[in-house]
Amino acid sequence: MTELMLALDVLTRAEAMDIAEKTHPYIDAIKIGYPLVLGSGLSVARDLSEFDLPLIADFKVADIPNTNRLIAEHVFEAGFSGIITQGFTGRDSVSACVDVAHSAGGKCYVVTEMSHPGALDFMGEGIAERLAALAVECNADGIIAPATRPERVKALREIIGKKKILSPGVGAQGGSAEEIAPLIDSMIVGRSIYNSEDPAKAAQSYSFIRN
Ligand code: XMP
Repeated sequence: MTELMLALDVLTRAEAMDIAEKTHPYIDAIKIGYPLVLGSGLSVARDLSEFDLPLIADFKVADIPNTNRLIAEHVFEAGFSGIITQGFTGRDSVSACVDVAHSAGGKCYVVTEMSHPGALDFMGEGIAERLAALAVECNADGIIAPATRPERVKALREIIGKKKILSPGVGAQGGSAEEIAPLIDSMIVGRSIYNSEDPAKAAQSYSFIRN
């Protein structure tokens, strides 16, 4: 079974609550990041917790260890259950996020290779493998890897074993749900659900991955 994680990148609390209300029976987790938190405040995390789903903070944290720790503490105090961090900042910065996450009973995921075309300018083959190995070394719970490049996901799976792969890029970015779902643990989908005329139906259309 592959989980479906809704990337809720709408800009207001009202829109976020409306889409979550419509889609929550068909999804396994919600991911929010700068678009919604800058638009509505960090307290939106508490409002979304009413849906009783894991809530992941996608801030792609990328700072020195002390600042990463301060950011991660805010995230878990706000009610999130997981955090996404960049890995290129190195082992001490990644460990700071992992330590705070695990102390709070939460999870930490490390970005390896991003899903958009420009990701290959700096983060492609070789670098992504090193970032995946760093995620293992730092005892992170998993990685973020691109649904737009299934062959790269397979290569990164070799490195991380049974740790989780969360994968964005299906739908608006062109990735295929059918192709990527068997390779990953959680498929992250945003625009093709929340921009749909009928978000519940759009979320439900991915239910085949959850069986
Ligand atoms: P869409 O609308 O393209 O949304 O379905 C995808 C969501 O995932 C985020 N995203 C990424 N996050 N590494 C990440 O950590 C990535 O490679 C990546 N690609 C997309 C994006 O911000 C949106 O929330």
